[in-house]
Amino acid sequence: MKNIVFLGPPGSGKGTQINELEKYLDFTVISSGDMVRELAEKNQQIKQLLEKGELVSDNVLLSEVDRQIGIIDKSRGIFFDGFPRTLNQAKKMDEILINHERVLDAAIYIYLEEEEVVKRLARRRVCRKCGRPFFDSPRCPSCGGQPVIRKDDNEATIINRMQVFLEQTLPLVDYYETRNILLQINGNQSIKNVGRDIKKGLGL
Ligand code: AP5
Repeated sequence: MKNIVFLGPPGSGKGTQINELEKYLDFTVISSGDMVRELAEKNQQIKQLLEKGELVSDNVLLSEVDRQIGIIDKSRGIFFDGFPRTLNQAKKMDEILINHERVLDAAIYIYLEEEEVVKRLARRRVCRKCGRPFFDSPRCPSCGGQPVIRKDDNEATIINRMQVFLEQTLPLVDYYETRNILLQINGNQSIKNVGRDIKKGLGL
């Protein structure tokens, strides 16, 4: 297993589970959410899309994903966090991977209902220093950094992000199922048990 995509509604635990898996697998993480947050610091239009919970244009992200894959050693695995998010991105990603002599081995879909999504994101904090998500601690459990609230973690934006997920990203579940690389994971369990199911599914 070298190239693994994480799909799921906002707050389903993609970032959390990737942080857990990094303890077992020495992979590089490519996070399109982090890319967009970085771009938003210099670009007002991207900032507005991010704060509304809308997707940014495919072109912006595809070239950056291509560039980031290119600087990773071919022998090293990659976790894709929140990318791809549309069928067009998924198809383009397949081409990009081929150009880098890689293939997608697994797409992990963490499913979670909207009520739990809203609950989790309302209490989420992210670390100012390392960016990791958490919720039940006054300081980051990984590095002790200060907690901040993400600008898109307000109720109206969370509901829009969920809608965008259902309309634009959910079709990827069928896309990867047809290719026989889909692993469906119940996200409504403890962090530990979600991780257990993922590791079992990946044969770790
Ligand atoms: P992105 O940053 O990718 O946001 P997202 O997909 O909405 O996902 P989140 O990061 O909010 O949640 P997560 O699933 O990682 O959950 P987490 O582990 O933090 O994208 C942000 C924006 O960027 C998008 O809206 C869009 O504008 C843009 N963008 C990104 N990618 C794009 C793309 N490909 N194309 C175009 N635009 C793009 O967990 C959430 C909380 O729950 C945490 O507090 C955590 O501690 C807690 N938690 C986790 N697991 C559990 C559990 N099992 N039980 C209880 N609590 C849990």
